[in-house]
Amino acid sequence: MREHCKILMRRARQIDARDLWYWRNDKSTRENSLTARRVSFDEHKAWFVKSLRSRFRKIYMATLDGIKVGMVRLDFPEKKIVEVSINIHPQYRSKGLGKQILRQIDRFIQRKYANRIQKSIIKLSNFASEKLFSSVGFTQIHVVTELGYSIWIRR
Ligand SMILES: CC(C)(COP(=O)(O)OP(=O)(O)OC[C@H]1O[C@@H](n2cnc3c(N)ncnc32)[C@H](O)[C@@H]1OP(=O)(O)O)[C@@H](O)C(=O)NCCC(=O)NCCS
Repeated sequence: MREHCKILMRRARQIDARDLWYWRNDKSTRENSLTARRVSFDEHKAWFVKSLRSRFRKIYMATLDGIKVGMVRLDFPEKKIVEVSINIHPQYRSKGLGKQILRQIDRFIQRKYANRIQKSIIKLSNFASEKLFSSVGFTQIHVVTELGYSIWIRR
């Protein structure tokens, strides 16, 4: 993968439902997620349609040369927080795209939501994600051993 290839970000739309469903049900995604079970397409679609309408959630698609390569979800659970989740297309992982996409989103958040603290919840065995989030300035602030995840923030 080229070091600085052109990744474009746009808001997710209904036509993205199936791609996101495939990526969500991918084995490695499920192993690295706090909810490891498969979801049916109907369940996913209902969640996705509701998410697209929500004031408290924004989903972005990352494309590279017109190919959908990843998604980022921003949740706004309370006034001072923006929670960041990322999922890369399973065939495009470990090529540096997660880092580029998260950097882009980080700059966007710094501009648009400068007053919010960024937060991410990472499963304890998810070393790629730990490396990824620390590379853009997140630090681990809390480990919830009994539930198997840690909380990371970026001020
Ligand atoms: C975690 C994820 C977002 C990382 O994105 P990516 O494009 O695969 O990662 P990158 O290639 O940009 O690499 C980011 C860092 O992770 C490391 N990494 C990548 N794949 C790895 C792997 N399989 N095991 C360990 N480290 C890995 C890279 O070496 C890099 O660290 P470095 O800068 O110190 O070299 C992606 O793999 C993914 O979508 N996984 C499934 C869903 C998930 O875990 N989402 C995050 C939930 S918090």
